[in-house]
Amino acid sequence: MIPYSTQSIDATDYDAVLETLSSPFLTCGPKVSEFEDAVCAFTSAAYAVAVNSCTSALHLAMRALGVSAGDIVYVSAVSFAASANCARMCGADVEFVDVDPHSGLMDMDSLEQMLSEASDSGRLPKAVVAVDLSGRCVDLKRLKELSLRFGFKVVEDAAHSLGATFDGSLTGSGKYADITVFSFHPVKIITTAEGGMALTNDDELALRLRELSSHGITHDRERMTNKNMPAYYYEMLDLGYNYRMPDLLAALGISQMRRVNVFLQARRQKAKMYEELLKDATGIELPEPDREGFESSWHLYQVWVKNGKRDAVYQAMREKKIGVQVHYLPIYRHPYYQKLKNYPPLPGAERFFAGTLSIPLFPTLSHLNQQLAAATLMSLTDE
Ligand SMILES: Cc1ncc(COP(=O)(O)O)c(C=O)c1O
Repeated sequence: MIPYSTQSIDATDYDAVLETLSSPFLTCGPKVSEFEDAVCAFTSAAYAVAVNSCTSALHLAMRALGVSAGDIVYVSAVSFAASANCARMCGADVEFVDVDPHSGLMDMDSLEQMLSEASDSGRLPKAVVAVDLSGRCVDLKRLKELSLRFGFKVVEDAAHSLGATFDGSLTGSGKYADITVFSFHPVKIITTAEGGMALTNDDELALRLRELSSHGITHDRERMTNKNMPAYYYEMLDLGYNYRMPDLLAALGISQMRRVNVFLQARRQKAKMYEELLKDATGIELPEPDREGFESSWHLYQVWVKNGKRDAVYQAMREKKIGVQVHYLPIYRHPYYQKLKNYPPLPGAERFFAGTLSIPLFPTLSHLNQQLAAATLMSLTDE
């Protein structure tokens, strides 16, 4: 079976993990801050907090921004459930923003309309979680403008988009988002097995993210209520979590970061190759190609299957041992969300979901297998 995506692990990754395995620190050692520094250097973010998943990073982002019961959070309708669950974990209400029917990215006109109506009724959101679906950045400039106009915070769910650019700025740079989160799950751009990171340029938010990731505990005398206590003493200032990333996994992350540009280049080259291989396909739409300064990280290569054939093509591709996947069911369709509230279907999200299909794309995908995937897809879809 050709997978739709898979990790790239080499001998340097083995060595890095084994070295840490025989070091004094399996967790809470020097590798975590080294990994955070590497991601800060790459993205030019001021602060990064490594955690045990992107889901944890999203939850921390909500907590750091003070989201709680009674607040409203807007979320892209097409994403993995975690993009919305983080707000529910804090007791906030979720409203879904429709997406562009072709890219699946949050539609800024829909967002603006929702915000204008919410402003009239005094129900503006505290935060908006916008997702860089497939590795393509959402319109961050308009999102930032709307955040300044309507007074909400921007959380960029960049689980898919480490290394993507918007107007020349890398995701996580902090130019547009208050907090950006990455995932290091094996299918993502780099991996730590499970893992995630929250980035920000705001020192207060960085402190909150860090403390909440480790039980809400501080070891900083200045922040304690009782300042003149022995060295063993620490205080818990807020209700936090054990969301820490172990050193063992951070060692893998450091090793993977050394090859991040190799991974990105390979993904971009393969996305271009699909454009070439699929240029005469008649039964599918291809994703938007990169433009200068607006480069996807190509976590996914999502085509759109015409004529209502997506499910049949999904099945047939898998029978032919070619891994494909559907990203994603609109979040509001999940029974959990339907039970909460009768969320109405959104036209862009429904259209996108009806045809989207992710075909194999990962750095070590061979040319032969890519040709096979493209030819099989065309044979199943051509009109
Ligand atoms: C858009 C998006 N956000 C968040 C997550 C959660 O990431 P993690 O598996 O690292 O918790 C995922 C995972 O696939 C995702 O695709």
